Amino acid sequence: MAKYKIAWLPGDGVGNDVMDAAKIVLDTINIDAEYIPGDIGWEFWKKEGDPLPQRTIDILKESDCGLFGAITSKPNQEAQKELNPKLRNKEYVYSSPIVRLRQLFNLHTNLRPCKAYPGNPLNYRDDIDLVVFRENTEGLYAGVEFSPLPKVVFDALMTHKKMKKFENVPLEDIAVSCRIFTRKACQNIVRQAFEYAKEHNRKSVTLIEKPNVIRETSGMMVQEARKIATNYPDIEFFEANVDAMCMWLVKNPQDYDVLVSSNMFGDIISDLCAQLVGGLGFAASGNIGDKFAVFEPTHGSAPKYAGQYKVNPIAMIRSVKLMLDWLGEKKHAENLETAIASIVSEGKVKTYDLGGSNTTLEVAEEIAKRIV
Ligand code: IPM
Ligand code: MG
Repeated sequence: MAKYKIAWLPGDGVGNDVMDAAKIVLDTINIDAEYIPGDIGWEFWKKEGDPLPQRTIDILKESDCGLFGAITSKPNQEAQKELNPKLRNKEYVYSSPIVRLRQLFNLHTNLRPCKAYPGNPLNYRDDIDLVVFRENTEGLYAGVEFSPLPKVVFDALMTHKKMKKFENVPLEDIAVSCRIFTRKACQNIVRQAFEYAKEHNRKSVTLIEKPNVIRETSGMMVQEARKIATNYPDIEFFEANVDAMCMWLVKNPQDYDVLVSSNMFGDIISDLCAQLVGGLGFAASGNIGDKFAVFEPTHGSAPKYAGQYKVNPIAMIRSVKLMLDWLGEKKHAENLETAIASIVSEGKVKTYDLGGSNTTLEVAEEIAKRIV
């Protein structure tokens, strides 16, 4: 039996292209792993009314971790139009399978390193080395939403004095999305950020929230972060409002180090950070729980490029690197990172986003060649 079972989930669009690239690299590294393909994505929504079928969840439950390509997500009305006519007007509601996976497996921590490879022409600056910790299961992603607003929920909300201004709005004309934080999750994400900073000799941790307006949820996060920060006297602790932070990250990204935030702000900030170091073609992520994790590039499925083997596989291959790290295969992870950095700085073999004309697979092969 292989040492690792890895669920193999290409998903939609260019997810397939970049996973083929990942396979080239993994075959070269040759860890003792079995890769188990799982059905996930739009195709299964259209056919079965479920983009994350139970059989895939079962595969994931049996695996050490998952590697995931990309997913096409569309708003509910469009999703209904594409659903198998036999399933329409029943209870099928589309929800993003990656968001569901995070919830189902309690993948509470989203790790998104954004480091500039020297020589990457797409770098905003060459000296950027940010690591985003995004809380991954709560906040606006907990999925507690209402429209129309049920009367009982309206009545409950009316106990808050600021609801008064909505008193006469018809219930079908109100939509509510709840931003739910728990103290435990706030503590957990901040602690992970500090532990990472400690382990990797990082200088600072910056908490990104908006407690001046979103007083209760952001407020709880700030309160917990301040307490946790006292346990790490050697690491500087900064607090920033999310809007100002977008500005600071564009002004002086080199001043920042480890960043930590709640789910939606972390989502937004991590795209900003990704663009500073070359864009989504470079942005990798790990959805990490206590005993299970799913690694994925943060780019979408880019349907117009699907199957063309045109997109940059580096985000995917960097996600493989994060997976190797998480599995404890540190040496392989390091070698892979060095191989990626060397092809980027040399700048000969590259995809269109970098001004090149190499294919996704050629880039993967070149990286594979450089793995020592
Ligand atoms: C991400 C993506 C997802 C998210 C989408 C695809 C649901 O933007 O992983 O950052 O919002 O978390
Ligand atoms: Mg995102």
